[in-house]
Amino acid sequence: MTFRVSPLLWPAIAAGSPAIVPALFVRNRRYRKNLERAARSNESRIENATALDLPALGSLSLTVLSEWEADPGFRSEAGVSYVLRSERGAVLFDVGFGAQSGVVVENARRLGFTLGDVDALVISHMHLDHVGGLEAQKARRVAVPAELGSPDGMDCFLPDEGGAEGFSCHVLGSPRVLDAGIATIGPLARAMFFFGYIEEQVLVARLEGSGLAVITGCGHPTIEVILEMVRRLSDEPVHTVCGGLHFPLRRSRLRMWGLEAQRFFGTGKPPWSPIDDDDLDHAISVMNRAGVRRVLISAHDSDDHAIERMDRELDAEVETLRAGKTYEMR
Ligand SMILES: [Fe+2]
Repeated sequence: MTFRVSPLLWPAIAAGSPAIVPALFVRNRRYRKNLERAARSNESRIENATALDLPALGSLSLTVLSEWEADPGFRSEAGVSYVLRSERGAVLFDVGFGAQSGVVVENARRLGFTLGDVDALVISHMHLDHVGGLEAQKARRVAVPAELGSPDGMDCFLPDEGGAEGFSCHVLGSPRVLDAGIATIGPLARAMFFFGYIEEQVLVARLEGSGLAVITGCGHPTIEVILEMVRRLSDEPVHTVCGGLHFPLRRSRLRMWGLEAQRFFGTGKPPWSPIDDDDLDHAISVMNRAGVRRVLISAHDSDDHAIERMDRELDAEVETLRAGKTYEMR
């Protein structure tokens, strides 16, 4: 059995409860307002979205620079960084913990990857495991490690206010085709109890002959809302879902300050109502109803129990993403 809060912290929490309880009450009021705001915002964005002119890609591959699982010889972390390549170009999607851990740098060096290999940087959302670490998150800056090369004003597409040194940054408000024939579905919101209101963008590409590939960072807006938006952007069936879906049901990959960080901070639910198997039931039925054929799941924000359930219950081929590996999407 694992505790979301280390038992070592329990006495301090008990002693601090006269201050903690009112603070949670105030935060809960803000959280409930954010829930309504996020629902309204997503509803109107989905309603206003129109079909995107997605080119049919003859090839699309995903190379993993940062993930929880890794091939032999590669390092792992609870972060996300993927290189997506098509016959039209390439984009870097997120930069994991960046220089804070050095994982992306080392794995990129092994793979011979530099920024010169891509046309743009796309950031899913402004959380530490995607923008280059805790300091980067606090400063709302994407910290791309210098070892990856000079950006020279390369485009960086963000889902929310922020910046990235040396890049030409664009905050996106709606779906659009970016580089390499890959599109963003635009920012979608999620209210989080501790992290507040966040925006996350997800990528979508059309694979010639098979359908759509949907590529997520953490999947905070939920796969249900993401697929609702995707359906507005294309009539093609969703063939592949790839990336993080955020199901730390029994364990969190990331522990901070004695807390199971992802189970606490990233679920979009209050601390007294943890994410559970019912939430995963719903996500699995959403993906099965959508006819998803292949799921390349990120273990950086879903635990082994959740991944085992997906493997058993999804009507799709399920594989866990590994750093150092390249996946052909078609
Ligand atoms: Fe994440």
